[in-house]
Amino acid sequence: MPSLPLPPCYEGPVIRDFLLTLDAAQRELGAILRMPFGKGELIMVCQPDLAYEVLVKQNRNFVKLGADGQTPGLQRILGAGLLTNPDYESWFSHRQIIQPFFQRHALERFAGAMVRASERLIESWHDGEPINLTKAMHKVTLELIFELVFSLYPEEAKAYPIQVPLSLASAKTSTVRRAAALLDDNIYALIKKRKLEHENGKEISDLLDLLLKAEDTGGNKMSDKELRDELLTVFAAGHETTANTLIWALMGLSSNREAKEKLERELRVQSQSLSLESLKRLPYLQAVVKETLRLYPTIPFAPRVSLKDTELGGFFVPKGSRLFVSIYSIHRHETYWENPLAFLPERFLDKGIQAAYMPFGLGERVCLGQHLATLETQILLASLLKHCSFDLEHKEITPRVSISLQPKEEVWAKLRLLQS
Ligand code: HEM
Repeated sequence: MPSLPLPPCYEGPVIRDFLLTLDAAQRELGAILRMPFGKGELIMVCQPDLAYEVLVKQNRNFVKLGADGQTPGLQRILGAGLLTNPDYESWFSHRQIIQPFFQRHALERFAGAMVRASERLIESWHDGEPINLTKAMHKVTLELIFELVFSLYPEEAKAYPIQVPLSLASAKTSTVRRAAALLDDNIYALIKKRKLEHENGKEISDLLDLLLKAEDTGGNKMSDKELRDELLTVFAAGHETTANTLIWALMGLSSNREAKEKLERELRVQSQSLSLESLKRLPYLQAVVKETLRLYPTIPFAPRVSLKDTELGGFFVPKGSRLFVSIYSIHRHETYWENPLAFLPERFLDKGIQAAYMPFGLGERVCLGQHLATLETQILLASLLKHCSFDLEHKEITPRVSISLQPKEEVWAKLRLLQS
């Protein structure tokens, strides 16, 4: 196998912006390439069938970072939670326990919470005022995660400041230590509080409850550290991603007036309250959310490390190589998408999901929260647009990556409250 060549290496100018450098490298070198990154290099995988090879077919070889004995950034905060756990056995056992909570039908009961959260937000706004959409969307998605995980409502949640920005992954060790200490205090306090409530016979139905009662096949319960890691993981993975998706959706709609009007018309005739059932009758809303996640996949890369020498796409990939499956590049390539940089929800109407579409990843490590994220984005977007119109200050917003794909700057919009 070593007789195969290594993937071609990008030697063009490295622009500070990782996404622009990647675009240039991909244009020059194609589907699989090496790119300088920090002190080493990365293999970027930018083709759907190779993504499938890495994430599904050869998934026991291409594993999560950390399985090579190093501690990747996010693992310093999230420990061995589902997202970062490199150990197959414990990951599998926890995934079996947690997954049922996030199945589509099990989330129905949160639809009401999502509508209420959007109503609280709208009630706090005044007609004509400038709105910091970045802050507002992060606030509403954080409130929902608190409710889902701990059954805590905004006033009670204030006593437990838990925020896990994904950018902590690249923070200095001292910053990570300080952040982790504060997070630990709050998470362990909430676990202790719930255990006391259980002793007093109080029944609460949320994620913490499920995890506290769960047992693995050997009859073992999760330790407090395991609980901490899984709970923090859901906070980290589940709030910033959805907040950014909402912002990108508003951004996409503001770039395509026709799409915006079409969605507004669809929402206007919809009189039922928003639920799993009524969302099925909003095909354009569904297409808007799918198109948002195509053009702006808020987790743009799926990182892996190779456990042994192997072959990929006719190239030699040595043991220990770091690979990023670039969902971002695959979603924006003209081979798979017509007019790929335009926001065109129509491309998802009456069409099955395409092989080049993977906003939630692929294979066993596919996103745990994909149904939650989709439901939440659809409901929040629909309820906001039923009552408000947003005139975005910047017509174009550049994305940047800090684990999640986010607008480079805070996004502001002028608000108009609509008569209902
Ligand atoms: C639009 C929002 C979201 C997007 C685009 C997204 C995307 C992704 C992607 C691409 C992966 C796979 C990463 C990889 O293979 O390396 C992933 C994994 C994961 N996501 Fe999401 N996600 C979103 C929302 C959520 C939410 C709301 C939750 C809350 C439960 C969540 C929890 C997770 C977890 C726990 C994993 C790791 C799964 C495992 O390895 O078993 N995500 N997500």
